[in-house]
Amino acid sequence: MTTSIIPAAGRGTRLNSSLPKALIPVVGKPMIVWTVEAFERTPIVDKLVLVAPNEFISKFEQLSRENQWQKVAAIVAGGSDRQQSVWNGLQAMPDETDWVIVHDAARPLVKPSLIVAVWEAANEIGTGAIAALPCSDTVKRSLDGVLISETLDREQIWLAQTPQVFSVDLLIEAHEQAIKEGYSATDDAMLVERLGIPLRLVMGDPTNIKITHPIDLLLAEAIIACEL
Ligand code: C5P
Repeated sequence: MTTSIIPAAGRGTRLNSSLPKALIPVVGKPMIVWTVEAFERTPIVDKLVLVAPNEFISKFEQLSRENQWQKVAAIVAGGSDRQQSVWNGLQAMPDETDWVIVHDAARPLVKPSLIVAVWEAANEIGTGAIAALPCSDTVKRSLDGVLISETLDREQIWLAQTPQVFSVDLLIEAHEQAIKEGYSATDDAMLVERLGIPLRLVMGDPTNIKITHPIDLLLAEAIIACEL
């Protein structure tokens, strides 16, 4: 069984909104609705665990009822950071889960074909895989934010997206290890990489943008207008 965990408990402070980010409308529908609909349409996804801001759980339940989502197995409260939210989601997965797909609610334009491609790559290698894009910019590293320390070889740089797919035991072990060591990461692959486990890169999709700043909402609307 494949279960998707959708961390959606972020505050969206960088979007200057009083609503949590996942509930901000994108072309008339809350962001989380776009994201969940993509997973509802993806045949390899069996169940969904939504991780909501604590005070908006009933709003998420209402959206699930109104939109007649078929795959939602649980809606749980998020934690203080993304990693904690995913951990809370892991606790609520159905026991039969073999593969976990973690996907940020903040990437509402994800396509079912990308979800399937990452899942297939994870199955092939047996550990896990992530969507990522090759970097087209020249990348500078700075230790103090003022002076350039070095230029990285962009041929070797990939920008991580979600979905990220992992075998369930591996992802749980990686989270447990991070908790034990007080390590915090900005994606799930980082936690698995530290265990020395190989993970596959799958060519991501430039339209699978992460909504972070107000301009990203305009970009998302433009992408949707082009695709309709
Ligand atoms: O803040 P950022 O855009 O990196 O968040 C990535 C994803 O993690 C978003 O979908 C956000 O809702 C989620 N998140 C969460 N719990 C938090 C912080 C972020 O579920 N405490």
